[in-house]
Amino acid sequence: MKEIQVTATVQLFDDIDELPAQAKQLMLQAIEARKKAYAPYSKFRVGAALSLDNGEIITGNNQENAAYPSGLCAERVAIYYAGAQYPDAKVLSIAITAASSTTQVNEPISSCGSCRQSIAEYEQKQKSPIAIYFMGELGKVAKVNSLKDLLPLGFDNSFL
Ligand code: THU
Repeated sequence: MKEIQVTATVQLFDDIDELPAQAKQLMLQAIEARKKAYAPYSKFRVGAALSLDNGEIITGNNQENAAYPSGLCAERVAIYYAGAQYPDAKVLSIAITAASSTTQVNEPISSCGSCRQSIAEYEQKQKSPIAIYFMGELGKVAKVNSLKDLLPLGFDNSFL
């Protein structure tokens, strides 16, 4: 038996103002998208903004449903829309923000497992990393340079 170390690198910014200008703009668009989320059940609103290599910015937010599992997270709403509209474009980066009307979300909120798996598919497809910035409503912003830092040892089509 031998043990291997799996490491992830995360950069932490004190707040949105510490981000590089383009990343801050992307996060501001994620915040605007978050405000339009449809989250009547969880009251937990999430916004995502994607920048594409063709210059487009795609936004999405969580869309809930009375049949709970039928709803979809913000990240997947946005990335599937991008995949549907611009199948040849590469996703450069994604900004994600979450806020709740029942608690103060002031820690970075990263994506759920299904969203990580979905983003991983696009990294694999485009053969280049996607930078991900994530935050709550206020406070620190975390950044990973690749989805691989959020989903080490993931499953992809190389196993099929
Ligand atoms: N949610 C997202 O939109 N993205 C995530 O990565 C985590 C969870 C949404 C799903 C649901 O509408 C609400 O947040 C509470 O789970």
